[in-house]
Amino acid sequence: MKKIRWGILGCGKIARKFASDLRWVEDAELVAVGARALATAQQFAADFPAKHVHDSYEALVGNPEVDVIYVATPHGLHHPHVMLCLNHKKAVLCEKAFAINYREAKEMIDFAKAKNTFIMEAFWTRLLPHYRKMKEMIAEGKVGKIKYLTAEFGFIPTPPFPQRLYDPALGGGALLDIGVYPIFLALDLLGKPDHIDAVMTPAPTGVDEQCAIRFQYKSAIAQLFCSFASNLATGADIGGDKGRIRLTHRFHGPTSNLEYYPGIVDTRESIDFEKAKGHGYEYEIQHVNECLQQGLMESPILTHERTLLLMQTLDIIRAKAGIKYGVD
Ligand SMILES: NC(=O)c1ccc[n+]([C@@H]2O[C@H](COP(=O)([O-])OP(=O)(O)OC[C@H]3O[C@@H](n4cnc5c(N)ncnc54)[C@H](OP(=O)(O)O)[C@@H]3O)[C@@H](O)[C@H]2O)c1
Repeated sequence: MKKIRWGILGCGKIARKFASDLRWVEDAELVAVGARALATAQQFAADFPAKHVHDSYEALVGNPEVDVIYVATPHGLHHPHVMLCLNHKKAVLCEKAFAINYREAKEMIDFAKAKNTFIMEAFWTRLLPHYRKMKEMIAEGKVGKIKYLTAEFGFIPTPPFPQRLYDPALGGGALLDIGVYPIFLALDLLGKPDHIDAVMTPAPTGVDEQCAIRFQYKSAIAQLFCSFASNLATGADIGGDKGRIRLTHRFHGPTSNLEYYPGIVDTRESIDFEKAKGHGYEYEIQHVNECLQQGLMESPILTHERTLLLMQTLDIIRAKAGIKYGVD
């Protein structure tokens, strides 16, 4: 099997976890890293060895030995950085939030199609074992018809926190950073809502510090919440007419345990999962590798349509809650 040669664009916090997890995927190889400053890229490559160390993103995307680039910059910069990769026909795995708004996301996906190049949103949660198991149980009818879904994600950033969390120019705010997880879950399990309500409380920079969202469906309701102001359980409940599944603490990550409450009886089944070898990003890396080995331009699981629906929904939520960015 040929090796898929990875490049990393932006050597920040998440890029380090991702680079560490590359080693768990047999046919993946980190060949190049690119940062705005050579010293940053060199430090990164000292910790996560890569053959090529680039002092600019332009140099990275021009490297002929790179097959696919992981874009790990703040979401306010995903659009220009992804376009740069695609212009050089590099396959792209782009961090969430995929873009600031639907318009940017559509341009990125349309450009990938025009260039006949693979692009996927790095929605790692969807590829984790507990999430797959939850989907399987729902498909088997264990929950019945989903009537109610609640999910929240909240933490208080501890200083010194990255500028990107609160800076509107970088896409700051809780919604685009962590609100995407509860929203993804509701869209994945219930589809496009018939009606959306949302409110927020602002941080001093004007971005949302907290955002509460309600999705209304013909016969279901989803209540979703994200916050930079409270340390929350970051769990999710999926309740149906036959049972309930609870994704416990940090439901978006690989350490979650899954609880199933069947029927009306107050009994609980606790389900265990294989422990991730790394931080959990190895599952999305494996998936991208499989797509690229098969010559796909789009993931069959994290489809372009799914990414666009998420971005379109975020636009509606922002309009309702009054969350604005300069690029809108
Ligand atoms: N999937 C997940 O679990 C997860 C977790 C955390 C974050 N994320 C996402 O990953 C992305 C990056 O988050 P992060 O926490 O890694 O951020 P971070 O630590 O602030 O790193 C972002 C990197 O982007 C680069 N960059 C380029 N232009 C920049 C600018 N004008 N201002 C700041 N940084 C700039 C910098 O890299 P160089 O200086 O090296 O070029 C910086 O190190 C975000 O979209 C975030 O939502 C995903």
